[in-house]
Amino acid sequence: MERLVDLLKSSKNTVFLSGAGISTLSGIPDFRGSNGIYKKFDANRIFDIDCFYNDPAYFYTHARDFIYNLDSKEPNIIHKTLAFLEKEGYIQALITQNIDLLHQKAGSVNVIEVHGSPSIHKCLSCDLKYSYDDVREILKDEEVPYCSECGGLIKPDITFFGEMLDQDAFTRAMDASAKADLFVVIGSSLVVHPAATLPMLALKGGGKLVIVNNMETPLDGHAYLRYDDLGEVFEYLSDHFRER
Ligand code: OAD
Repeated sequence: MERLVDLLKSSKNTVFLSGAGISTLSGIPDFRGSNGIYKKFDANRIFDIDCFYNDPAYFYTHARDFIYNLDSKEPNIIHKTLAFLEKEGYIQALITQNIDLLHQKAGSVNVIEVHGSPSIHKCLSCDLKYSYDDVREILKDEEVPYCSECGGLIKPDITFFGEMLDQDAFTRAMDASAKADLFVVIGSSLVVHPAATLPMLALKGGGKLVIVNNMETPLDGHAYLRYDDLGEVFEYLSDHFRER
């Protein structure tokens, strides 16, 4: 892991791409890992936009635990170390596919959320905005949140399968990736596109790719360094950078 520390110190433009695996240490299940939520319910339905329109209760019922019940979930050593490394100037951009808001809670500032965020919800009929807390309040009494003004269905601002990613966020993610001389993927299976193409932009620009994930990913063959255990890697980084 000394090699990773050296890379972090010598690189001028370091970009991290985080996935759901980093929040398992905070008690939030990932999607495709050994205890992932896709093992428990239908992966084709939970984040599918057509299913959401046809049966929003399916999403809101299953998302309660991992999106609307995050009060007890705290940033772990990974989120905290990333926030610290950003503050110290070792990270130039943090791209996340996560929708659990833990990077922000840990203090990271430059977070690019390529799959959107549940911090904002909108009425699909009149576009009225609702905060995360507004919707949680509604969900205490209702199975599905509907707009108090027009009765329209309320949807979180996260990207469902079948929807376009937020173009502004994805353009910023692509720009940051193309400039990266070091690109570190943490806790992602790298199977969901287009987020999974971001490391390729870094590689194309001559950047080095590091992957930390305990399952195989399609880009393992391109990795300059590869580690399995996120906890171990971040204990090491935290000790090293904080003890300087
Ligand atoms: P995945 O669940 O696909 O991948 C998480 C990876 O982290 C898995 O390969 C796990 O094995 C690994 N992992 C879990 N805990 C680990 C640990 N302690 N150490 C090392 N590795 C660990 O999550 P994403 O790649 O983020 O879409 O999934 C991408 C998208 O698919 C998500 O953003 C989500 C989902 O559908 C939306 O939310 C729209």
